[in-house]
Amino acid sequence: MTLAGAKLSRKQDASSPAQEPDAQGSRAKAPRPQESHARAPRARARRAPEREPAASDLLDWYDRHRRDLPWRAAAGVIPDPYRVWLSEIMLQQTTVTAVVPYFARFLARWPNVETLAAAALDDVLKFWAGLGYYARARNLHACAQAVVQRHGGRFPSTEAQLTELPGIGPYTAAAIAAIAFEARAAAVDGNVERVVARLFALEQELPAAKPEIRKLAVGLVPARRSGDFAQAMMDLGATICTPRRPACGVCPWMQPCRARHRGDPASFPRRSRKREGLLRRGAAFVALRADGCVLMRQRPPKGLLGGMTEVPTTEWTHGFDADEALREAPRLGRARPRWRRLPGVVSHVFTHFPLELVIYRAQLAAGAIAPAGTRWIPLADLDGEALPSLMRKVMAHAAGESLRPRQPDQRSG
Ligand code: ADE
Repeated sequence: MTLAGAKLSRKQDASSPAQEPDAQGSRAKAPRPQESHARAPRARARRAPEREPAASDLLDWYDRHRRDLPWRAAAGVIPDPYRVWLSEIMLQQTTVTAVVPYFARFLARWPNVETLAAAALDDVLKFWAGLGYYARARNLHACAQAVVQRHGGRFPSTEAQLTELPGIGPYTAAAIAAIAFEARAAAVDGNVERVVARLFALEQELPAAKPEIRKLAVGLVPARRSGDFAQAMMDLGATICTPRRPACGVCPWMQPCRARHRGDPASFPRRSRKREGLLRRGAAFVALRADGCVLMRQRPPKGLLGGMTEVPTTEWTHGFDADEALREAPRLGRARPRWRRLPGVVSHVFTHFPLELVIYRAQLAAGAIAPAGTRWIPLADLDGEALPSLMRKVMAHAAGESLRPRQPDQRSG
């Protein structure tokens, strides 16, 4: 990959509700909407819904419109837990489109958990290359071995047992338990949060609303076909109840959806304005070596963009002083880089704050040595790195490219 080509394609339990619906059409109890004077509906409000959301309406829609995905069992066929698990791990923070070819290659090479457990980790990492977030590949391998060693090669069926396996968090455990074992589990990610917040026009703001959303989501799960229901929620969030322009006119839950009746579905879920935070600023240093390598480092494992790859930057602060930025440029010893400040800034909005980075770029000789805590990565290998979208923007800016918008990531919510 050239510098100009350095664009990579990428990308949450609770008590039972008062009533629990089943696939035959019983209803979930709607919450009493909380009072809010903060926002008035933008569009003309319709009358309050006369129906409560029924799992059967969503399942009927799913039967007609389900996405044809390679890891999905045909209607009525019992899903293979190995395929379900493999797909769910790959889909963590990655789009469906990106996962499809990887899923096929993995399955052809390692058709079951035993063969994957017996594979060399290096092989697994090679097959994973390009999918990013490499801790997932290591955990995948460790999980396969744990399933073979601890469970005789059979995936456990409960959320509690699944979360004890490497790489399986609450969302993935619920998804596997529901899809592979028909457990009455609610897999709640950002997409599902959005669907539920709209369905009940929840005024409480995220992230404080998470437990309430989870409770409501659990209340929607039917006693039968819970796996199809989980996948139907995923499809609804990805294709109809989208973040900006939900297609309410074709939504199977348009009747009971309170946000649609209010006329402002896209304003849900509510988000705390405070989270937007004050603008932080900083500088990023793109050091390019004559042999086509760029200087990168790993972020600390915990916290914002934990463990991901970045070019060296200053701290991101409210009081950033651009004139002082070069003092924090990476020390490249005798290579003596001549940092050139590029015009413009790279802007990015995190959930908690917006960020603006000024970019410095330097060209170095092929022998330049990476300072402690950094390494030279060939630009051609950047696809295989866990590069956050902020860093993709930085690299594109350093390449002098105009910033093309990425495909929306259906999975990120
Ligand atoms: N995102 C996460 N899990 C998924 C699945 N099983 N199908 C589609 N999208 C998903």
